[in-house]
Amino acid sequence: MDTLLSSPFRIGNIQVPNRMVSLPLYLAYPSESHEVDDLVLDYYEEMAASGVGLVIVENVTVEARGLGSPRTMLISEDRFIPGLARLARTIKQHGIPAILQIHHAGRHANRPDRIAPSPIETWGVLPQPMDQACIDRVVGAFAAGARRALEAGFDGVELHGGTGYLLPQFLSPRTNFREDGYGGDGTRRMRFPLEVLGAVRAEVGEAFPVGYRFLADEYVPGGLTLTDTIPFAQRLAEAGITYLSVMTGCYDAFPLPRYIQDDAEEAFMAPYAQAIKQAVPGVPIIAAGRIQSPATAEAILRDGVADLVGLARVLFADPLWPRKAVGELKEPINPCTPGCMLCTKRVKEQKPAYCGRWPKERRERFLERVGG
Ligand SMILES: Cc1cc2nc3c(=O)[nH]c(=O)nc-3n(C[C@H](O)[C@H](O)[C@H](O)COP(=O)(O)O)c2cc1C
Repeated sequence: MDTLLSSPFRIGNIQVPNRMVSLPLYLAYPSESHEVDDLVLDYYEEMAASGVGLVIVENVTVEARGLGSPRTMLISEDRFIPGLARLARTIKQHGIPAILQIHHAGRHANRPDRIAPSPIETWGVLPQPMDQACIDRVVGAFAAGARRALEAGFDGVELHGGTGYLLPQFLSPRTNFREDGYGGDGTRRMRFPLEVLGAVRAEVGEAFPVGYRFLADEYVPGGLTLTDTIPFAQRLAEAGITYLSVMTGCYDAFPLPRYIQDDAEEAFMAPYAQAIKQAVPGVPIIAAGRIQSPATAEAILRDGVADLVGLARVLFADPLWPRKAVGELKEPINPCTPGCMLCTKRVKEQKPAYCGRWPKERRERFLERVGG
Protein backbone atom coordinates (compact mmCIF):
# COMPACT_ATOMS: atom_id res chain seq x y z
CA MET A 1 0.00 0.00 0.00
CA ASP A 2 1.40 3.38 -1.02
CA THR A 3 1.07 5.74 1.94
CA LEU A 4 2.64 8.99 3.04
CA LEU A 5 3.22 7.21 6.35
CA SER A 6 5.65 4.88 4.61
CA SER A 7 7.53 7.66 2.78
CA PRO A 8 11.04 8.61 3.94
CA PHE A 9 11.97 11.90 5.59
CA ARG A 10 15.13 13.72 6.62
CA ILE A 11 15.61 15.28 10.04
CA GLY A 12 18.89 17.21 9.89
CA ASN A 13 21.45 14.63 8.82
CA ILE A 14 19.29 11.67 9.89
CA GLN A 15 17.56 9.63 7.24
CA VAL A 16 14.23 8.39 8.64
CA PRO A 17 12.84 5.54 6.55
CA ASN A 18 9.19 6.40 7.24
CA ARG A 19 7.05 8.97 9.07
CA MET A 20 6.19 6.98 12.19
CA VAL A 21 8.04 7.78 15.41
CA SER A 22 8.20 5.86 18.68
CA LEU A 23 7.83 8.73 21.17
CA PRO A 24 9.51 8.89 24.58
CA LEU A 25 7.50 6.84 27.06
CA TYR A 26 8.88 6.43 30.57
CA LEU A 27 7.69 3.09 31.94
CA ALA A 28 9.70 2.70 35.18
CA TYR A 29 11.80 -0.03 33.53
CA PRO A 30 15.36 1.17 34.37
CA SER A 31 17.12 -0.24 37.41
CA GLU A 32 17.22 1.59 40.73
CA SER A 33 20.89 2.27 40.02
CA HIS A 34 19.57 4.39 37.10
CA GLU A 35 21.09 2.14 34.47
CA VAL A 36 19.94 0.43 31.32
CA ASP A 37 18.73 -3.07 32.22
CA ASP A 38 17.19 -5.99 30.35
CA LEU A 39 13.65 -4.68 30.75
CA VAL A 40 14.72 -1.43 29.06
CA LEU A 41 16.59 -3.26 26.30
CA ASP A 42 13.68 -5.62 25.58
CA TYR A 43 11.20 -2.74 25.40
CA TYR A 44 13.32 -0.73 22.96
CA GLU A 45 14.06 -3.84 20.92
CA GLU A 46 10.31 -4.24 20.44
CA MET A 47 9.81 -0.55 19.60
CA ALA A 48 12.68 -0.61 17.10
CA ALA A 49 11.34 -3.78 15.45
CA SER A 50 7.79 -2.37 15.27
CA GLY A 51 8.23 -0.78 11.85
CA VAL A 52 8.61 2.84 13.03
CA GLY A 53 11.21 4.99 11.27
CA LEU A 54 12.71 6.54 14.41
CA VAL A 55 12.88 5.76 18.12
CA ILE A 56 13.18 8.58 20.64
CA VAL A 57 14.23 7.14 23.99
CA GLU A 58 12.45 8.27 27.18
CA ASN A 59 13.78 10.93 29.56
CA VAL A 60 17.33 10.25 30.74
CA THR A 61 18.44 12.67 33.46
CA VAL A 62 21.49 14.91 33.26
CA GLU A 63 22.11 15.25 37.02
CA ALA A 64 20.87 13.25 40.00
CA ARG A 65 19.01 16.23 41.48
CA GLY A 66 16.85 16.26 38.36
CA LEU A 67 15.66 12.64 38.63
CA GLY A 68 11.90 12.34 38.26
CA SER A 69 11.80 8.90 39.87
CA PRO A 70 14.07 6.33 41.55
CA ARG A 71 13.82 4.28 38.35
CA THR A 72 14.95 6.80 35.72
CA MET A 73 18.14 6.43 33.70
CA LEU A 74 21.00 8.83 34.36
CA ILE A 75 23.52 10.29 31.93
CA SER A 76 25.34 12.34 34.55
CA GLU A 77 28.68 10.49 34.47
CA ASP A 78 30.79 8.72 31.87
CA ARG A 79 30.19 5.40 33.63
CA PHE A 80 26.66 5.38 32.19
CA ILE A 81 27.94 5.48 28.59
CA PRO A 82 28.49 1.71 28.07
CA GLY A 83 24.91 0.84 29.10
CA LEU A 84 23.49 3.60 26.94
CA ALA A 85 25.70 2.42 24.06
CA ARG A 86 24.07 -1.02 24.35
CA LEU A 87 20.69 0.69 24.17
CA ALA A 88 21.67 2.68 21.07
CA ARG A 89 22.98 -0.51 19.39
CA THR A 90 19.82 -2.42 20.29
CA ILE A 91 17.70 0.13 18.44
CA LYS A 92 20.04 0.84 15.53
CA GLN A 93 20.56 -2.81 14.65
CA HIS A 94 17.04 -2.60 13.22
CA GLY A 95 18.28 -0.11 10.62
CA ILE A 96 16.60 2.95 12.13
CA PRO A 97 18.01 5.98 13.95
CA ALA A 98 17.87 6.45 17.73
CA ILE A 99 17.55 9.76 19.55
CA LEU A 100 18.02 10.12 23.31
CA GLN A 101 15.86 12.52 25.30
CA ILE A 102 17.85 14.39 27.94
CA HIS A 103 16.06 15.77 30.92
CA HIS A 104 15.93 17.58 34.26
CA ALA A 105 12.73 17.42 36.32
CA GLY A 106 13.35 20.63 38.31
CA ARG A 107 10.54 21.10 40.86
CA HIS A 108 9.04 17.77 39.78
CA ALA A 109 12.15 15.84 40.81
CA ASN A 110 11.57 12.97 43.19
CA ARG A 111 14.16 14.35 45.61
CA PRO A 112 14.17 16.44 48.78
CA ASP A 113 16.97 18.62 47.32
CA ARG A 114 15.02 19.56 44.21
CA ILE A 115 15.66 22.86 42.46
CA ALA A 116 13.50 25.22 40.38
CA PRO A 117 13.48 28.70 38.88
CA SER A 118 11.23 29.88 41.74
CA PRO A 119 10.29 28.33 45.11
CA ILE A 120 6.80 26.91 44.45
CA GLU A 121 5.80 24.12 46.79
CA THR A 122 5.54 20.95 44.73
CA TRP A 123 4.38 17.58 46.03
CA GLY A 124 4.96 18.79 49.60
CA VAL A 125 8.49 20.11 49.09
CA LEU A 126 9.64 23.68 48.58
CA PRO A 127 12.29 23.55 45.84
CA GLN A 128 15.43 25.59 46.16
CA PRO A 129 15.51 28.52 43.71
CA MET A 130 18.46 28.23 41.33
CA ASP A 131 21.23 30.80 41.77
CA GLN A 132 23.63 31.63 38.94
CA ALA A 133 26.13 28.93 39.97
CA CYS A 134 23.35 26.34 39.96
CA ILE A 135 22.07 27.55 36.56
CA ASP A 136 25.59 27.29 35.12
CA ARG A 137 25.99 23.79 36.58
CA VAL A 138 22.72 22.54 35.08
CA VAL A 139 23.48 24.11 31.68
CA GLY A 140 26.83 22.31 31.82
CA ALA A 141 25.12 19.04 32.82
CA PHE A 142 22.87 19.20 29.73
CA ALA A 143 25.92 19.82 27.51
CA ALA A 144 27.84 16.94 29.11
CA GLY A 145 24.78 14.70 28.80
CA ALA A 146 24.53 15.46 25.09
CA ARG A 147 28.23 14.68 24.63
CA ARG A 148 27.75 11.32 26.38
CA ALA A 149 24.74 10.54 24.16
CA LEU A 150 26.90 11.21 21.10
CA GLU A 151 29.68 9.01 22.50
CA ALA A 152 27.15 6.26 23.22
CA GLY A 153 26.27 6.18 19.51
CA PHE A 154 22.91 7.96 19.49
CA ASP A 155 22.06 9.82 16.29
CA GLY A 156 20.80 12.89 18.14
CA VAL A 157 19.46 14.25 21.39
CA GLU A 158 16.13 15.75 22.32
CA LEU A 159 15.92 18.38 25.07
CA HIS A 160 12.91 17.58 27.25
CA GLY A 161 10.95 20.79 27.22
CA GLY A 162 7.62 19.05 27.91
CA THR A 163 5.43 17.84 30.79
CA GLY A 164 6.23 20.85 33.02
CA TYR A 165 9.85 19.86 33.73
CA LEU A 166 12.74 22.27 34.32
CA LEU A 167 13.00 23.89 30.87
CA PRO A 168 9.30 24.90 30.67
CA GLN A 169 9.38 25.84 34.38
CA PHE A 170 11.63 28.70 33.29
CA LEU A 171 9.50 29.51 30.25
CA SER A 172 6.15 29.59 32.05
CA PRO A 173 4.88 32.78 33.75
CA ARG A 174 3.13 30.41 36.18
CA THR A 175 6.33 28.93 37.61
CA ASN A 176 8.96 31.60 37.01
CA PHE A 177 8.73 34.67 39.27
CA ARG A 178 12.39 35.59 39.01
CA GLU A 179 13.45 39.19 38.93
CA ASP A 180 16.89 38.61 37.41
CA GLY A 181 17.80 38.11 33.74
CA TYR A 182 16.02 34.69 33.68
CA GLY A 183 12.54 35.96 34.62
CA GLY A 184 10.05 38.68 33.84
CA ASP A 185 8.99 39.12 30.22
CA GLY A 186 8.79 36.31 27.65
CA THR A 187 12.26 36.97 26.27
CA ARG A 188 13.87 36.62 29.69
CA ARG A 189 11.91 33.48 30.50
CA MET A 190 13.27 31.91 27.28
CA ARG A 191 16.84 32.59 28.31
CA PHE A 192 17.53 29.42 30.31
CA PRO A 193 16.29 26.89 27.70
CA LEU A 194 18.10 28.85 24.97
CA GLU A 195 21.31 28.78 27.02
CA VAL A 196 20.90 25.01 27.39
CA LEU A 197 20.48 24.66 23.61
CA GLY A 198 23.51 26.91 23.00
CA ALA A 199 25.71 24.93 25.39
CA VAL A 200 24.57 21.60 23.92
CA ARG A 201 25.27 22.86 20.37
CA ALA A 202 28.72 24.11 21.39
CA GLU A 203 29.49 20.70 22.89
CA VAL A 204 28.24 18.40 20.10
CA GLY A 205 28.79 20.62 17.06
CA GLU A 206 26.48 21.89 14.33
CA ALA A 207 25.94 18.57 12.56
CA PHE A 208 24.57 16.56 15.51
CA PRO A 209 20.77 16.71 15.58
CA VAL A 210 19.33 18.47 18.63
CA GLY A 211 15.53 18.40 18.86
CA TYR A 212 13.13 19.76 21.46
CA ARG A 213 10.08 18.25 23.16
CA PHE A 214 7.94 21.28 22.83
CA LEU A 215 5.19 22.17 25.30
CA ALA A 216 2.80 24.22 23.17
CA ASP A 217 0.14 24.76 25.87
CA GLU A 218 0.25 23.86 29.56
CA TYR A 219 -3.55 23.40 29.80
CA VAL A 220 -3.53 25.22 33.14
CA PRO A 221 -5.02 28.65 33.92
CA GLY A 222 -2.26 31.25 33.83
CA GLY A 223 0.11 28.79 32.15
CA LEU A 224 1.84 28.70 28.78
CA THR A 225 -0.33 29.07 25.69
CA LEU A 226 0.51 29.50 22.02
CA THR A 227 0.85 33.24 22.69
CA ASP A 228 4.06 32.50 24.63
CA THR A 229 5.14 29.36 22.87
CA ILE A 230 4.99 30.47 19.20
CA PRO A 231 7.64 33.17 19.77
CA PHE A 232 9.69 30.57 21.67
CA ALA A 233 9.47 28.15 18.73
CA GLN A 234 10.71 30.95 16.48
CA ARG A 235 13.68 31.61 18.78
CA LEU A 236 14.52 27.88 18.87
CA ALA A 237 14.38 27.85 15.06
CA GLU A 238 16.73 30.83 14.82
CA ALA A 239 19.06 29.08 17.29
CA GLY A 240 19.23 26.05 14.99
CA ILE A 241 16.92 23.48 16.60
CA THR A 242 16.76 20.38 14.37
CA TYR A 243 13.10 19.49 15.02
CA LEU A 244 10.22 20.14 17.40
CA SER A 245 8.11 17.34 18.87
CA VAL A 246 4.93 19.07 19.95
CA MET A 247 2.90 18.10 23.03
CA THR A 248 0.44 19.74 25.42
CA GLY A 249 -0.31 19.42 29.14
CA CYS A 250 1.80 19.28 32.27
CA TYR A 251 1.70 17.59 35.67
CA ASP A 252 -0.65 20.23 37.08
CA ALA A 253 -3.01 19.74 34.12
CA PHE A 254 -3.13 15.94 33.95
CA PRO A 255 -5.78 15.58 36.74
CA LEU A 256 -7.98 18.43 35.36
CA PRO A 257 -11.27 17.60 33.55
CA ARG A 258 -10.28 19.56 30.41
CA TYR A 259 -7.12 17.53 29.93
CA ILE A 260 -8.80 14.20 30.76
CA GLN A 261 -11.58 14.94 28.23
CA ASP A 262 -9.23 16.05 25.47
CA ASP A 263 -6.89 13.10 26.09
CA ALA A 264 -9.74 10.80 25.06
CA GLU A 265 -9.96 12.48 21.63
CA GLU A 266 -8.21 11.25 18.51
CA ALA A 267 -5.15 13.39 17.63
CA PHE A 268 -5.95 15.92 20.36
CA MET A 269 -2.54 17.61 20.26
CA ALA A 270 -2.42 17.90 16.46
CA PRO A 271 -3.91 21.44 16.19
CA TYR A 272 -1.01 22.64 18.34
CA ALA A 273 1.52 20.88 16.11
CA GLN A 274 -0.10 22.61 13.14
CA ALA A 275 0.09 26.05 14.79
CA ILE A 276 3.79 25.52 15.54
CA LYS A 277 4.47 24.22 12.03
CA GLN A 278 2.91 27.33 10.53
CA ALA A 279 5.07 29.51 12.80
CA VAL A 280 8.36 27.76 11.91
CA PRO A 281 7.79 26.37 8.40
CA GLY A 282 11.39 25.19 7.92
CA VAL A 283 11.56 23.05 11.06
CA PRO A 284 10.45 19.39 10.99
CA ILE A 285 7.47 18.87 13.30
CA ILE A 286 6.35 15.69 15.08
CA ALA A 287 2.69 15.51 16.12
CA ALA A 288 1.49 13.40 19.05
CA GLY A 289 -1.56 12.62 21.15
CA ARG A 290 -3.73 9.55 20.65
CA ILE A 291 -3.14 9.16 16.93
CA GLN A 292 -4.98 5.86 16.96
CA SER A 293 -6.19 5.53 13.42
CA PRO A 294 -3.86 5.23 10.43
CA ALA A 295 -6.35 7.34 8.44
CA THR A 296 -5.89 10.20 10.93
CA ALA A 297 -2.11 9.76 10.78
CA GLU A 298 -2.18 9.86 6.98
CA ALA A 299 -4.39 12.98 7.03
CA ILE A 300 -1.97 14.74 9.42
CA LEU A 301 0.79 14.26 6.85
CA ARG A 302 -1.39 14.94 3.79
CA ASP A 303 -2.81 18.18 5.22
CA GLY A 304 0.59 19.47 6.29
CA VAL A 305 -0.32 19.46 10.01
CA ALA A 306 3.06 17.86 10.80
CA ASP A 307 5.92 16.03 9.08
CA LEU A 308 5.94 12.94 11.28
CA VAL A 309 3.43 11.22 13.55
CA GLY A 310 4.45 10.25 17.07
CA LEU A 311 3.08 7.25 18.92
CA ALA A 312 3.53 6.60 22.63
CA ARG A 313 0.74 4.71 24.46
CA VAL A 314 -0.69 3.84 21.04
CA LEU A 315 2.46 1.86 20.17
CA PHE A 316 2.81 0.44 23.67
CA ALA A 317 -0.71 -1.01 23.36
CA ASP A 318 -0.07 -2.35 19.86
CA PRO A 319 3.58 -2.70 18.81
CA LEU A 320 2.33 -3.93 15.42
CA TRP A 321 0.58 -0.58 14.75
CA PRO A 322 3.08 0.60 12.07
CA ARG A 323 2.88 -2.65 10.08
CA LYS A 324 -0.91 -2.64 10.28
CA ALA A 325 -1.04 1.06 9.35
CA VAL A 326 0.88 0.60 6.11
CA GLY A 327 -1.01 -2.56 5.18
CA GLU A 328 1.81 -5.04 5.82
CA LEU A 329 -0.46 -6.82 8.31
CA LYS A 330 -4.18 -7.07 7.79
CA GLU A 331 -5.24 -7.53 11.42
CA PRO A 332 -7.19 -4.80 13.29
CA ILE A 333 -5.29 -2.41 15.53
CA ASN A 334 -5.43 -3.06 19.27
CA PRO A 335 -6.20 0.47 20.54
CA CYS A 336 -5.06 2.14 23.76
CA THR A 337 -8.22 2.63 25.87
CA PRO A 338 -9.02 6.29 26.64
CA GLY A 339 -9.27 6.86 30.38
CA CYS A 340 -7.54 3.57 31.25
CA MET A 341 -4.33 5.17 32.65
CA LEU A 342 -2.95 1.82 33.81
CA CYS A 343 0.54 2.63 32.45
CA THR A 344 0.53 6.02 34.18
CA LYS A 345 -0.76 4.51 37.43
CA ARG A 346 1.98 1.87 37.47
CA VAL A 347 4.65 4.50 36.82
CA LYS A 348 3.31 6.66 39.67
CA GLU A 349 3.55 3.62 41.94
CA GLN A 350 7.15 3.23 40.70
CA LYS A 351 6.30 -0.20 39.34
CA PRO A 352 7.20 -1.30 35.79
CA ALA A 353 4.27 -0.48 33.53
CA TYR A 354 2.26 -2.84 31.37
CA CYS A 355 -0.73 -2.31 29.15
CA GLY A 356 -4.27 -3.44 29.97
CA ARG A 357 -4.76 -4.11 26.23
CA TRP A 358 -2.01 -6.71 26.04
CA PRO A 359 -3.23 -10.27 25.70
CA LYS A 360 -3.75 -12.01 29.06
CA GLU A 361 -0.75 -14.36 28.69
CA ARG A 362 1.55 -11.43 27.94
CA ARG A 363 0.33 -9.50 30.98
CA GLU A 364 0.80 -12.56 33.20
CA ARG A 365 4.29 -13.24 31.85
CA PHE A 366 5.24 -9.60 32.42
CA LEU A 367 3.95 -9.48 36.00
CA GLU A 368 5.79 -12.70 36.78
CA ARG A 369 8.99 -11.22 35.35
CA VAL A 370 8.80 -7.97 37.35
CA GLY A 371 7.47 -9.59 40.54
CA GLY A 372 3.95 -8.07 40.45
C1 LIG B 1 3.43 6.85 31.24
C2 LIG B 1 3.90 7.96 30.32
C3 LIG B 1 5.25 8.27 30.25
C4 LIG B 1 5.69 9.30 29.40
N1 LIG B 1 7.03 9.58 29.35
C5 LIG B 1 7.47 10.59 28.56
C6 LIG B 1 8.86 10.93 28.49
O1 LIG B 1 9.72 10.29 29.11
N2 LIG B 1 9.20 11.99 27.72
C7 LIG B 1 8.27 12.71 26.99
O2 LIG B 1 8.65 13.65 26.29
N3 LIG B 1 6.98 12.37 27.01
C8 LIG B 1 6.55 11.34 27.75
N4 LIG B 1 5.22 11.01 27.74
C9 LIG B 1 4.28 11.68 26.78
C10 LIG B 1 4.19 10.87 25.48
O3 LIG B 1 5.41 10.92 24.75
C11 LIG B 1 3.07 11.39 24.54
O4 LIG B 1 3.28 12.72 24.22
C12 LIG B 1 1.66 11.26 25.12
O5 LIG B 1 1.50 10.05 25.83
C13 LIG B 1 0.60 11.36 24.00
O6 LIG B 1 0.80 10.40 22.97
P1 LIG B 1 0.00 8.98 22.98
O7 LIG B 1 -1.46 9.33 23.00
O8 LIG B 1 0.42 8.23 21.73
O9 LIG B 1 0.39 8.28 24.23
C14 LIG B 1 4.76 10.00 28.59
C15 LIG B 1 3.40 9.66 28.65
C16 LIG B 1 2.96 8.65 29.49
C17 LIG B 1 1.49 8.30 29.50
